[in-house]
Amino acid sequence: MMLMSTLPELTASNRAVVLVAAPTLAAAEQLAAMLAAERDLDVRTQVVIDGHVDPSGAGHAAAQLVIADLGDRGGALLNDWDLGGAGMPLIVIGPANDAQTMRRAMQLGARDYLSAPLTADVLLASVRQVLSERVINHASGSRGKLTAVITAKGGSGGSFVACNLAHILTAYRLRSVALIDMDLQFGALPLSLDLHSRDTLFDAIAAVDQLDPVALTGYMTKHDSGLHVLGAISDQLAIPSEVSVDAVHRLLDLALQTYQHVVVDLPRQIDALTTMVLGAADHVLVVSQQSFSHLRDTKRMFELLQGYVGVPPERLSLVVNRYIEKNPITTEDIRAAVRPQDMVLIPNDFVVATEAQNLGVPVYDGARTAPLTRALCAIAERIDAGEAQEASPRPSERPVKRALQRVLGMR
Ligand SMILES: Nc1ncnc2c1ncn2[C@@H]1O[C@H](COP(=O)(O)OP(=O)(O)OP(=O)(O)O)[C@@H](O)[C@H]1O
Ligand SMILES: [Mg+2]
Repeated sequence: MMLMSTLPELTASNRAVVLVAAPTLAAAEQLAAMLAAERDLDVRTQVVIDGHVDPSGAGHAAAQLVIADLGDRGGALLNDWDLGGAGMPLIVIGPANDAQTMRRAMQLGARDYLSAPLTADVLLASVRQVLSERVINHASGSRGKLTAVITAKGGSGGSFVACNLAHILTAYRLRSVALIDMDLQFGALPLSLDLHSRDTLFDAIAAVDQLDPVALTGYMTKHDSGLHVLGAISDQLAIPSEVSVDAVHRLLDLALQTYQHVVVDLPRQIDALTTMVLGAADHVLVVSQQSFSHLRDTKRMFELLQGYVGVPPERLSLVVNRYIEKNPITTEDIRAAVRPQDMVLIPNDFVVATEAQNLGVPVYDGARTAPLTRALCAIAERIDAGEAQEASPRPSERPVKRALQRVLGMR
């Protein structure tokens, strides 16, 4: 291990985790002190001993932003800098007028480059800008991707997939993500993340016409990872037919202006509300398992989705959850019966899934290397891929680019 960590225990709060990394503890703490008064920031420090920050370190995994102070070593430290290729939002504090270091910072995806003399106001403004860019996507004019998850048969693991997929898009792909529970009668998504929502989907629907993207985020319950969750269950009992489809449509539209990904967990029923969501989705994941009764219901679900709802086959994926290779029902049997254009497998892992569910800790945090988690990461990568190709240039790279152009005399 190449770093000495002074990380406090993770807190289950709504604060954004900011990691300050510097060659000495004194330097890291001096920067952290500049942000100490900000109650919505959870500022942690890390000492970089020889250029490496361990990407598996607890602070690194939880961080939504890294502030890297290059200190005396300047560009040399940045040359060795290993951020695990994660594309973590990064602010670099380095020598002024040093084009080479600035260029390297840009290559590492730095969103801003600051130099001494650094005041708390300048640092805070930079932090605020980078964090808001991460959450609020609408400024870039691009629209988020909607992923709808539905089960072919109850208990197949639809909510488990929706929850962990949304968390992986946030924690591993570093996207801004909203997870919305639309299982209006039995949904319990926030509990799977050990969260207790104050506001629910019903509160957001009631206010939808007064909301803008910033106000919408106020209705979301925030997970430590940065994932925003909108739960469905509150004290009020809801009958899905009483919920205005039009209002939910407006809410989804707003969420897609706000986040890079919106993941919706749907109940297993085809009605006006689910038809609207399924019709609007960029990806529909139908979660099922390996049994004859699952196969029969999956075939029926695919017919309903393609025939009645009109989901184009290229947007539909069959997710075979709890997959076991030696099950007599093979992937060929499933392909022959359902004829999905796309099929993915998630291995059965009772221990990992049950522990995640019971502790409210998503599998990417609790069992990162488990095959089940890797399968979910692969799904997240594919869902994210289309957007990653479009995302150029990132608006958040502008400040450092401007600084570099100034140094190079281009401005
Ligand atoms: N790959 C897996 N391996 C083992 N257990 C799993 C796996 N995926 C999900 N489970 C377990 O299956 C159970 C049902 O999962 P979940 O609640 O997500 O299903 P669902 O399809 O949303 O059910 P419902 O029909 O009630 O909405 C949970 O206890 C979960 O931990
Ligand atoms: Mg469910």
